[in-house]
Amino acid sequence: MTSSINPRTYEPAPARRVAFLGLGVMGYPMAGHLARAGHAVTVYNRTAAKSEAWCAEFAETGKVQHANTPREAAQGADIVFCCVGNDDDLRSVVLGADGAFAGMQPGAIFVDHTTASAAVARELDTAAKALGLQFIDAPVSGGQAGAQNGQLTVMCGGSQPAFDAVRPTALAFSRAFTRIGDSGAGQLAKMVNQICIAGLVQGLSEAIAFGQHAGLDMPLVLDVISKGAAQSWQMENRGKTMVEGRFDFGFAVDWMRKDLGLVLDEAKRNGARLPVTALVDQFYADVQRAGGNRWDTSSLITRLVTKKA
Ligand SMILES: NC(=O)c1ccc[n+]([C@@H]2O[C@H](COP(=O)([O-])OP(=O)(O)OC[C@H]3O[C@@H](n4cnc5c(N)ncnc54)[C@H](OP(=O)(O)O)[C@@H]3O)[C@@H](O)[C@H]2O)c1
Repeated sequence: MTSSINPRTYEPAPARRVAFLGLGVMGYPMAGHLARAGHAVTVYNRTAAKSEAWCAEFAETGKVQHANTPREAAQGADIVFCCVGNDDDLRSVVLGADGAFAGMQPGAIFVDHTTASAAVARELDTAAKALGLQFIDAPVSGGQAGAQNGQLTVMCGGSQPAFDAVRPTALAFSRAFTRIGDSGAGQLAKMVNQICIAGLVQGLSEAIAFGQHAGLDMPLVLDVISKGAAQSWQMENRGKTMVEGRFDFGFAVDWMRKDLGLVLDEAKRNGARLPVTALVDQFYADVQRAGGNRWDTSSLITRLVTKKA
């Protein structure tokens, strides 16, 4: 059977009992790396078939099981990792009678990898403290490939001791796991990341569309200029596929609109001016209207050129 994750070497770390909630595009391989690194992993997924498939794939590690509720998964765990969709999804797996907090033992740490608001991070941090638990907001960058390769970049908010306790375990699926500041700071750093991406992808889209209108050999132009000052991850990894009109590379337009909504809400609160980001958010709304909800974010170029079949 083909593995959903690619092999990597793990730094030695004490074996932990952990839970993982949410086995989506990101969570499934992240939990897989935790199992392969030697941790005992209990998974929970709303759609149980995914937990069963995950357990079958990683059964060979000898330390995996699945639970019927987040509460059950969290019982006895030192660390509960989570990666679901948005603020409300997060609340639904954390709070309430069947939520993870109801099952966690005092001192246990909840690490949330969902891209969510800084406000929900602070809300859950406060709820955790009231129960003698700890909470870290830890959104990720690196996409599906980063999760499969165990090479994500993770931006964390929370207390230094909780961060220090989690880091050796989390390095099973990340190449950088960094504390930015107090609760909410991880989510704010992820917003900075998304603001950069919005402007970069629009700039790259305009550049490629311009080159095509000018009749240039755009793969050749991208090869040349990616060695110079215009170079970017987006240009290196998405430029040629944008020229080809291929948009099936992970991070979906729907997710980007969710993230830009979080960014624009936060900017209303903190007074930052984001004129280009607000415009690009509306451009992504055009892509959604054209049916591109699940296309990846490089499909922004479709507003400027005719999408190839
Ligand atoms: N994909 C990327 O490239 C990428 C990159 C960086 C960050 N992120 C962020 O990472 C998070 C997850 O993304 P993803 O691509 O892994 O999403 P996904 O494939 O859609 O998976 C979402 C997961 O959350 C679960 N879920 C959603 N709502 C739930 C609810 N109300 N209760 C319980 N479980 C719920 C889903 O369960 P079911 O299986 O039952 O639907 C699934 O396991 C998002 O916040 C996204 O913005 C994604």
